Amino acid sequence: MGRLLQDLDYFMEWGGRSWQSLMSYAFEHFLGTDLRGQQVLEIGSRYGKMTCLFALLGAKVIGIDTEGKSLLIAQQEAAKWKAEDAVLFIKAGGDLSIIKDNSFDVVFSKSVLVMVPDLAGFLEEVKQKLKPGGKIVFLENAKGPRWLHLLRAVRHMRKWDYAQARYFTSQEVKMVSQVFDEFVMRSWMFPPVILMMGCKPKVSNPL
Ligand SMILES: C[S@@+](CC[C@H](N)C(=O)[O-])C[C@H]1O[C@@H](n2cnc3c(N)ncnc32)[C@H](O)[C@@H]1O
Repeated sequence: MGRLLQDLDYFMEWGGRSWQSLMSYAFEHFLGTDLRGQQVLEIGSRYGKMTCLFALLGAKVIGIDTEGKSLLIAQQEAAKWKAEDAVLFIKAGGDLSIIKDNSFDVVFSKSVLVMVPDLAGFLEEVKQKLKPGGKIVFLENAKGPRWLHLLRAVRHMRKWDYAQARYFTSQEVKMVSQVFDEFVMRSWMFPPVILMMGCKPKVSNPL
């Protein structure tokens, strides 16, 4: 299982060392690397590589994405790893109503929350899907200091619509921290990426 994590470059597809280091941290210090018996929901699973990684670590995984075409590629990825019995890919149209409540040990997403229009409502939905004590692991692009933002703009000028670029803001991080217990954030400076981890409260608040 440890060997799979050495291949994060493959499973994470893009983003490089910053994203991989933070994800390694999440596995080593929060999720563990033996996920047998766990149910994982990946939101925005796209081509399914991370979904397959969770399955190869022993979990049963549902990957949802609003984009139906990518799910076909994700199914081929699962076939490649002979993980079809452990993964289910579903086209879900922006909300989580088709997913059963209180049924996941882990909800994972990478570079998705920035695209969610009503983040506060979405986070509450995510919380409903978790079992009590269930964990979230979210990875998002952050803006970083102004000089870095400008450097990134110049570097990507030709291939990136800078004006359209969206980053996860500190206000949005705060929203996540208010919904989940035991919230921990770790960040990477260059390029700026943030890892958010937390848990659904074990006992629901009677108020
Ligand atoms: C930037 S891509 C990231 C894909 C993948 N997580 C990765 O890191 O390569 C964002 C993905 O999230 C999907 N998406 C956006 N909003 C979503 C939502 N509310 N529910 C499920 N998927 C969503 C998009 O269709 C897209 O595939």
